[in-house]
Amino acid sequence: MLKLLALLQDGRFHSGEALGASLGVSRAAVWKQLQELELASGLSVHKVRGRGYCLETPLVLLDAEKLLSNPGGWRPQVLESVDSTNAAAFRYLESGEKPPFFVVAERQTAGRGRRGRQWISPFAENIYYSLLLRVEGGAGQLDGLSLVVGLAVLAAIREAGVAGVGLKWPNDLLVAGRKVAGILLEISGDPADVCHVVVGVGINVNMRREDSIDQPWTSLRNEVGEVIDRNALINSLSAHLDHYLALHRQQGFQALCADWEAAHLWQGKEVRLSAGAQFIDGRVLGVDFRGALRLLVDGEERQYSGGELSLRLRDDS
Ligand code: BTN
Repeated sequence: MLKLLALLQDGRFHSGEALGASLGVSRAAVWKQLQELELASGLSVHKVRGRGYCLETPLVLLDAEKLLSNPGGWRPQVLESVDSTNAAAFRYLESGEKPPFFVVAERQTAGRGRRGRQWISPFAENIYYSLLLRVEGGAGQLDGLSLVVGLAVLAAIREAGVAGVGLKWPNDLLVAGRKVAGILLEISGDPADVCHVVVGVGINVNMRREDSIDQPWTSLRNEVGEVIDRNALINSLSAHLDHYLALHRQQGFQALCADWEAAHLWQGKEVRLSAGAQFIDGRVLGVDFRGALRLLVDGEERQYSGGELSLRLRDDS
């Protein structure tokens, strides 16, 4: 399917004969592949007698060749469709692939979000990226790691032209209250010794319509008003991750704490922290050297951390 899409991605008309010649199949086989493509991808193909076939909207597909030159020398695995790039990264590891490497996909059928939610992942519109790393040196190496990843994603989104993007603890990226990217870290092995971490990043890039997302969202295209080159954005993300992960490895989250707080949209705000049915009201003081949230609750400072926590602004803030 990707071969056919690669031929059509320019948004121009291509005759059935020319497509068949490039793919080495008959015109009837081209017709069948086009129907399968529409079904599998959700894309629309215009069919005009005498002119041939063209995509309703031109697109740029992910291209492994273009993703090879990242500063960390991380190998890319580019997939057409996968359940979850995080799950795929762990499968590559189990089958003998040596970290570091990253997995990107045109779409996910079971994209994983935080707190058991699904990450909506339509075909060829966004970035679904999972970097697999080996982490040595004990649990301390993981302190603040997901917040550091947030700084790298923030830098890549700013570089793409979205100045108004910021962070929300622990690792959401928002523009004017709308979610533009999310991060999910998953760990296998012994965090106290040697383990593997998959750094999963989802960025809404060129998506313009999606009815199934149950929270306010935006995309880079909505913010900058033009189509974004996903290959260039992935390279920018890899470069910023390489930079921030090296700083974190050498100096710990301590060195990045102030940068993180400077980008935190809810610094000083009155918030409600929820863990299931329980909640705590307080004012955001910042984050500590391990990435835990510091809240002022009933006149006292308290720290909170954990993947199941979520933060809301209080109505009266
Ligand atoms: C969140 O809920 O905010 C975290 C979303 C993380 C989504 C990304 S998309 C790439 C990677 N693969 C997944 O299954 N999830 C993460």
